[in-house]
Amino acid sequence: MPLSVLIGAQWGDEGKGKIVDLLARRVDWVARFSGGPNAGHTVRIDGETFVLHLLPSGILRPGVCCLIGHGVVLDLDHLEREIQSLEERGVRIDDRLKISSAAHLLLPYHRWLEELQHQDVRVGTTKRGIGPAYQDKMGRVGLRVHDLLDERHLKDRLEEELSRVEAMHRGWGRPMPEIPRQASLEWARRYAGIARRLGPAIVDTVALLHGELDAGKSVLCEGSQGTFLDIDLGTYPFVTSASTTIGGAIAGLGLPPSRISRVNGVAKAYTTRVGNGPFPTEFGERIAGSFRKKAGEFGATTGRPRRCGWFDAVLVRHAVRVNGIGEICLTKLDVLTGMRTLKLAVGYRVGRRTLEHPPVDPAEWAACKPVYEDLPGWTKEIGGARAPEDLPAEARRYVEKIEALCGAPVRLVSVGSAREAAVRMPARRRPAARRGRRS
Ligand code: IMP
Repeated sequence: MPLSVLIGAQWGDEGKGKIVDLLARRVDWVARFSGGPNAGHTVRIDGETFVLHLLPSGILRPGVCCLIGHGVVLDLDHLEREIQSLEERGVRIDDRLKISSAAHLLLPYHRWLEELQHQDVRVGTTKRGIGPAYQDKMGRVGLRVHDLLDERHLKDRLEEELSRVEAMHRGWGRPMPEIPRQASLEWARRYAGIARRLGPAIVDTVALLHGELDAGKSVLCEGSQGTFLDIDLGTYPFVTSASTTIGGAIAGLGLPPSRISRVNGVAKAYTTRVGNGPFPTEFGERIAGSFRKKAGEFGATTGRPRRCGWFDAVLVRHAVRVNGIGEICLTKLDVLTGMRTLKLAVGYRVGRRTLEHPPVDPAEWAACKPVYEDLPGWTKEIGGARAPEDLPAEARRYVEKIEALCGAPVRLVSVGSAREAAVRMPARRRPAARRGRRS
């Protein structure tokens, strides 16, 4: 596949890290197109766990080149730490990493502004400064990677930005966090130093990607977060500040849609979300605690307990539609083993109306009651399954039901955290999205 895209079909944490790692076996490049260090992609290799925040998960495959596109907001301190920690664990990066000179910088004051504007409390953010970094980008006052290449210019720009940040604090009647007297000089030195160390990794990634595609190389675009955290298509305002959907891949890497040959969606066999916002199929507290523990549902970036619930076909069907998802990778099916009955949301009821698509208005979201269809569960452990026939009939039925409800075939089922714990399903025609029978 010359150019494929992998998108989260829910609220993030779908297990994209593992799927990218599997697909990366067959590609030359893995490219990140949006988000920043708010992402937490977990990959388990030979019993070792790697959590990547900024580097594409493909970096764990020797020989695969990785790229951070201009749609990403780059926290340089974080990037340097992440590179260092991987190298200390024996992952050789060498010249396998390229960074867009047009990527925006996420600077320490973005975290202060996030707190100042109470975004962390209102939205339940990861507190990584993501919102304010994208605000600066859209407000056309952001600094980009190419600004690092001239230290004097960088210092002047940082001075301007710091006085703006100070004025904002004054405006809100809050003290500015303590910074060194010569902060702009110190930061300019520090960040220009990181840029020098990155050296030839900083390039025009649009030209690079097009050159590689023209030369017949294959590229996998790695999404972060999920469709319903997208700034436009998500459950606004409880979203991240980036385009996490297919449009983000195109804009964040400078690729034309006509070159994309496949869009894969990743969905968990149930649903989770972190932070505030609507979640119609959320479990009640009675099952939530034990399920979360069994499933290990704690944030890879913040350690926060994730909210858990039943599979929501309304969401995934919509994600298939808006992203043009051709195949679904279904993760964590093994977690459902032992549940007597499995519920799948096939629609929402709002007052007397039944919705088959997610609403837009937060008030309507809050009023949504899921319409469930029940399927029998299974008791046999499936962690060792490697072929469809290793799965109990009930598990296969559950997967087929998801395909029928969401309108896309499930091509890969993940049954454990290890690299090899996956079942490749037979290729099938794309099923037409079908509404379920309502219970
Ligand atoms: P921010 O991206 O830190 O601004 O957070 C905005 C919302 O997106 C919050 O609800 C976060 O919990 C959520 N979020 C951001 N990144 C991730 C992720 O990688 N997985 C799951 N939720 C995320």
